[in-house]
This record gives sequence, C-alpha cells and structure tokens, in this order.
Amino acid sequence: MDIFPDKKIIVVSNREPYSLSRRHQKTVGGLVSALDPLMKATRGVWIASGSRDELKDRPSRFPVPPADPSYTLRLVPLGPADIEGYYNGYSNRFLWPLCHMTLDRVYLTRSYWRSYRKVNGLFAQAAAEEAGEGSVIWLHDYHLALCAPFIKELCQNAFVSIFWHIPWPPHAVFRICPQKKELLEGLLANDLIGFQLPAFMENFARCVERELGHEVDIEGGVISHKGRLTRLKAFPISVDFDWFERAAVSAEARKFISKFLKKRGLEGSKIILSVNRLDYTKGMIKCLEAVELFFTKYPRYKNSVTFVQIAVPTRKVEPYLSYMERVQRKVDSINQRLSRDGWKPVEYITANVAHAELAGLYRKADLAMISSVYDGMNLVAKEFIASQVDLSGSLLISELAGASEEIPGVTLINPYDTEGCAIAIKAALDASPAEKRKALQEARAHVRERNINRWIMDIFKEIKNIQDEQIPSQFFKRAPVVLKG
Ligand code: UDP
Ligand code: G6P
Repeated sequence: MDIFPDKKIIVVSNREPYSLSRRHQKTVGGLVSALDPLMKATRGVWIASGSRDELKDRPSRFPVPPADPSYTLRLVPLGPADIEGYYNGYSNRFLWPLCHMTLDRVYLTRSYWRSYRKVNGLFAQAAAEEAGEGSVIWLHDYHLALCAPFIKELCQNAFVSIFWHIPWPPHAVFRICPQKKELLEGLLANDLIGFQLPAFMENFARCVERELGHEVDIEGGVISHKGRLTRLKAFPISVDFDWFERAAVSAEARKFISKFLKKRGLEGSKIILSVNRLDYTKGMIKCLEAVELFFTKYPRYKNSVTFVQIAVPTRKVEPYLSYMERVQRKVDSINQRLSRDGWKPVEYITANVAHAELAGLYRKADLAMISSVYDGMNLVAKEFIASQVDLSGSLLISELAGASEEIPGVTLINPYDTEGCAIAIKAALDASPAEKRKALQEARAHVRERNINRWIMDIFKEIKNIQDEQIPSQFFKRAPVVLKG
C-alpha cells in the first residue's frame, strides 16, 4: 500500500489492536479490524490506552503483531480512575448511547467530563511526541473528540484528522449534551473529519450551525471556525475483501468449520448466523425474539435449522453486564421452550472467534442476520459478503445499520418488526439458488470495489488534496468561508 511513503502515519485510538493482558491476542471490534492491515502495510505507530499497572515493569512502546512485528504500538498508561471516568464513563455511558440515540441509557457525571478532557490531553501528548515534520496524525472515534486542539497546541504543523466510526445524531438529540459546544469546537480543530455516511456528516454540520452559529455549506463540506478550515466528508468503512475471500476457502477455515459443526452436532443443519461484539446497539434481544417467532410460526424448520449467535463481550461493566444477562436468559428460555429430540434452536458462543475461522463460518452459513437497532456501518455484513464465495447464502440487514444504505442487492429488515423479521428469515432460507446468487453477486461487486484499501486511499487522497490547497489561515478571518468539495 503506497500511501505517503515519505510521511509517518500515527494512528490514535482508545482500543489497542493487540491486548497485553490476553497474551497479545488481537482485540475485537470494527475499528481494529479495519486499521490493523493499514498499520502492517505502512509500519507507523499506533497509540492506544494501556493499564498503568500492566505497564509498571515493561516498556509502553513495543513492536506488534507478536508473530510478525511490523509496526509500533505505544500505550498511554491510564489508572483505574481515568479508565472509569474517560472510558466507562464519558465515552461509553454518555457519548456511545447519545450517538446511538438510546437516550434511556445516557448517564453523565461532571467527573466523567473532567477525566475525558484529561485523558484526551494525555493521548495528544503521546501523539505530539511521536510526530515529526509532516506526520499525519489520525485519530479514531468518540473517545478522542478533544484531542485535536491539544495536539495543535503542541505541534502546530501536524495534520490532524479524526474518523468518527459511530453515528452522529441529529441536533434534536445532540442538544442534550451539556458539553456540546466544547465537543464541536474540539472536533473542529481537526483538519479533516470523516464520517461513515453523508447523513451523519449532515447531522454534524447542522449541530455546528445551531450551536456555534456558523453558516455551513454541506455540499462543499467545509466549515470555517476561528480562522481555520475543517473539511467534512463521508467515507463508508469497509473490509479486506480479498483476504476474506481467500480465508473462506483456506484449509484453516475448512478445518475449523468441520470441527465446529461436529462438536455442536450441526452437520447437515442449516445455519442462521449472527456475529456481534456484545452490545445493546446490535439488537440481539430483538433478533432472538425474531428467531423464536420464526421457529414457532414455521415449526417445520425445527430440527433442520439452528441459529448460531456469536457475541463477544468487550465492555465488561454496566450496563453491558445486565444486557449480557438478558441475552443469556433469552437464549436459555428459547432453548428450554423449543428444544426437542436432541435439537437445540440456539447455539450461543461468547468466545472470540478469529477472522480466519469466522471466514469459514460466514461461507458455510445459509443466512446471516444483522439486527442492529442503530449502527455506524457494521463490518460483519461486509465480511459475510466477502466470504460467500459459493454465492449460496442470504443476508438480512437492519435498515438502521449504516451498511444497509450502502450495499446494493441486500434484503432489509426492521428489527422492531419482529413478525416482519420472522417472515424475512423464512423467505431468505427459501429463496431459490438463482435469487441468492444474484443478490450476492451485486453485493460482492460493490464490496470488492469499495474495500478497505479504497477507504484508506480515499481518506489519504483527501488529506493530500487539503494539504495541496492549504491556504494560510489569515485568509479566513471572515466566516463563513466555503471551498469547493
Ligand atoms: N469479531 C471478531 N470475532 C468475533 C466477533 C466479532 O473478530 O468473535 C469482529 C468482526 O469480525 C468485526 C468486528 O468484530 O470485524 C465487529 O465490527 P462491527 O463493525 O460489526 O461492529 P462494532 O464492534 O464495530 O460495533
Ligand atoms: C466500536 C467502536 C470502536 C471500539 C469497538 C470495540 O467499533 O467504534 O471505537 O473500539 O466498538 O469497543 P471497545 O469498547 O471494546 O473498544
């Protein structure tokens, strides 16, 4: 990947790509799945949060991945109070539910905000220390909304961009944030802000308009704030299509899948697959209700179809612990009510399945269900499409997941319409081979072309354009100033 061969790329995210506490195992989530291949190719530095205790007796900067070191991971040591306030608190109990519009879960204390500011400053410090002349500092996600102003203070010449991996809510929702102005101003210190979808970018621009009083040209995608310009643009994130396509037919995947099916007595069974990080935004209870109704409404599928739910917990605090219990209870109740003659409707797996193995499962599945009640994109949908080399499966995507807006040919479901979902499951399983082939061909052509390399290239091309047209900031004293998009 020949991106900016002369520039150092510094990725900054809360989540580390390889976990120190779990013997350097790759971590789970869309962000790490998308960026690890980029970092391997560009050999830059990835800055992420670490535990102060774990880093006590060891260097906080080391090469990764362990088996084939190709880039540097630098961990920012955080104590338990920082992690509670900045990560569990402001990021996950406030910004995450706010941006996913699950307002009954929004919870905030002033200490969360203080901690969030402090930790953003620590990340900025680490990034500034790593940055050299002409470095590109690429921030990721809602944990780091305040980093850019700190970085700009420490090294004015750095190019700073943030990619917002989750939805940006409409102003009617965002307005409940007590720190709305500080967050917007923090983000506007970036040179480029990337969003998953044009709709999220527009929501952000409207929030700036309403809260900071700037006129914004959404088509042009540029905001002038305090004499500086910030470019806004949508870049739907994607997956390494070729990698999944190859992995799906690899010996490793084949071995995994035959062991998996044998161990669970699923040989000969049709599989409905759902793969998630365990999160309430993934609509797992709604999905289980739909599956339960499907088996109840269409009993002839009992014995021959199994719902395989992979759900990996990553945020092991409230409200996730309660959600995890609810999911487990729902699985148990369905299995108790519907199991018969050795057949069990739901196989529930909470262990992390590696991508090389997931690819085999995606290929084997007859149907994949994405039931998010709100989702920035959803990479699982694209991984499934890339792994479906035999064109023999179906995909149902929630119309509330970003992927549904982007991928042609897929069938949409509304996770709030349980009966509609149950009917859609039946229709998808019963679809003719020709129908499945056609839908997958269309979806695969799209994801093959708009793959993760294309995502990265589009963002870095935009960075280059911005740098090429950089005009000294004194020309922008009067707001609003709009460049052509
Ligand atoms: N994932 C994984 N192993 C698992 C479950 C999930 O590697 O056992 C990965 C999955 O393949 C995908 C990511 O976690 O790459 C989830 O990304 P997605 O965009 O679907 O959701 P997010 O976690 O970002 O909300
Ligand atoms: C989503 C977020 C990422 C996050 C990932 C896993 O993909 O957009 O920023 O890393 O979930 O969540 P976690 O809290 O475990 O890092």
